[in-house]
Amino acid sequence: MTGKLLLATILCLMGGQALGDAILEGNYNVTAVCTAVKVGTQLGSIESCQTYYVCQSTGPVQSSCQSGYSYDYKRSSCYPSSEVDCYWGVENPCAGKNNTWVPNTAVCGGWFYCLEGKSAGSGNCPVNQKFDTTTLACVYGTCSNTQGTNETVLESLCDVVPPGQYFGDTESCSTWHYCESTSTGLVLQSGKCSANNQTAYNVLANQCTYESASVCSRVTNIPLSDAAVSCSTNGAKSADPKVCGTYYVCTNGKNVATYCPTGDYYDDSLGYCVSRQVATPVAGCNRCQYATSTFVNAVDSNNCSTYYYCNSQGEATLNTCPADTFFDESRQGCKSDDDLSTYVPLNGACKGATAEGSEETDNSTTDAE
Ligand SMILES: *[C@@H]1O[C@H](CO)[C@@H](O)[C@H](O)[C@H]1NC(C)=O
Ligand SMILES: *[C@@H]1O[C@H](CO)[C@@H](O)[C@H](O)[C@H]1NC(C)=O
Ligand SMILES: *[C@@H]1O[C@H](CO)[C@@H](O)[C@H](O)[C@H]1NC(C)=O
Ligand SMILES: *[C@@H]1O[C@H](CO)[C@@H](O)[C@H](O)[C@H]1NC(C)=O
Ligand SMILES: *[C@@H]1O[C@H](CO)[C@@H](O)[C@H](O)[C@H]1NC(C)=O
Ligand SMILES: *[C@@H]1O[C@H](CO)[C@@H](O)[C@H](O)[C@H]1NC(C)=O
Repeated sequence: MTGKLLLATILCLMGGQALGDAILEGNYNVTAVCTAVKVGTQLGSIESCQTYYVCQSTGPVQSSCQSGYSYDYKRSSCYPSSEVDCYWGVENPCAGKNNTWVPNTAVCGGWFYCLEGKSAGSGNCPVNQKFDTTTLACVYGTCSNTQGTNETVLESLCDVVPPGQYFGDTESCSTWHYCESTSTGLVLQSGKCSANNQTAYNVLANQCTYESASVCSRVTNIPLSDAAVSCSTNGAKSADPKVCGTYYVCTNGKNVATYCPTGDYYDDSLGYCVSRQVATPVAGCNRCQYATSTFVNAVDSNNCSTYYYCNSQGEATLNTCPADTFFDESRQGCKSDDDLSTYVPLNGACKGATAEGSEETDNSTTDAE
């Protein structure tokens, strides 16, 4: 097992360096993160608990802990596996654990409950929460990838970059970040260099300096990781694609999840929260949230014919009305298109819908995807 891992490590290293390719672990571009940290910094892996990367001036060099040891990115060293909270790619995340929770890294917000080295149950954090690997508890926040993919996803740069160390960004030369240890886990803090024309964050010097081609060479305009919820325009708002009542406000380079008052949805075209029935939230978000009925309109600006069945957990299953009908949420059924024009103004989910289907909004729906 270890031999195989080591061999894979060596092959991967050779391949990576010979071709000059970036080292990628899913959405985690190790090469890019290395350009944003000080030379010598070690980064964790999200594919294996034994693996880590040493950032050299030529890029990341993969390395591995000896058998029985795991890499602890928070302490930048290998420790006996039982002393390291690492769950990436491990066969039994409950090994050596008793009466505690550990993350299920394959599922957003997923956890296992461990008893005497074995999983004694599994589950998911409530909506709008994710499992924090530091506190081993559910905390507020959304997963970057809510689709149930099998791929390991880097949710936060603070899962691989050692805490307390400043690092730069690949989208803006001014932006700096560091991972702060708090009682609720590691939190990504970000800011911008702005004083006296010294607007570049200089990774080597670990300070704000004047901009120059070499200081800013890391800027590729590719986000450090699409998961790292970085943003550039302070105050800019964006809708959560899945949760109608949640949106994000860009604050110091970081998208901060913000929740509408109970019963309200974030209306993307208005840019603020309005009551559920009149709001036009982003297409595809789950309108079972705050619903008091079993069947609800899906956001459908075409012909208002799609609707969800909401189960008792608030999960939505998409359905479609028969031809020449639309879904009427107050009547809990499909109604003749004759009444659609009076329904639309009172029900934001169907804004823009017509019996013939609205070509214009068809267009914008395609654009959004
Ligand atoms: C990874 O980062 C490197 C260095 O910034 C960049 O050249 C490369 O295009 C990136 N690869 C992907 C797939 O984003
Ligand atoms: C594991 O935890 C349970 C519950 O706290 C306890 O009853 C049991 O004795 C523990 N087993 C071991 C081997 O420590
Ligand atoms: C995970 O991958 C397997 C095999 O590729 C596939 O059959 C399964 O549906 C996937 N599960 C999810 C949740 O994507
Ligand atoms: C900043 O740059 C501007 C324009 O290049 C210049 O006029 C100004 O004197 C500079 N300020 C400092 C503090 O260097
Ligand atoms: C609504 O529009 C879609 C896409 O144009 C079409 O496939 C569907 O048949 C229409 N449904 C109704 C009930 O009119
Ligand atoms: C519809 O799509 C076409 C081609 O993609 C584009 O030129 C046009 O502006 C779009 N119309 C609207 C209303 O978005």
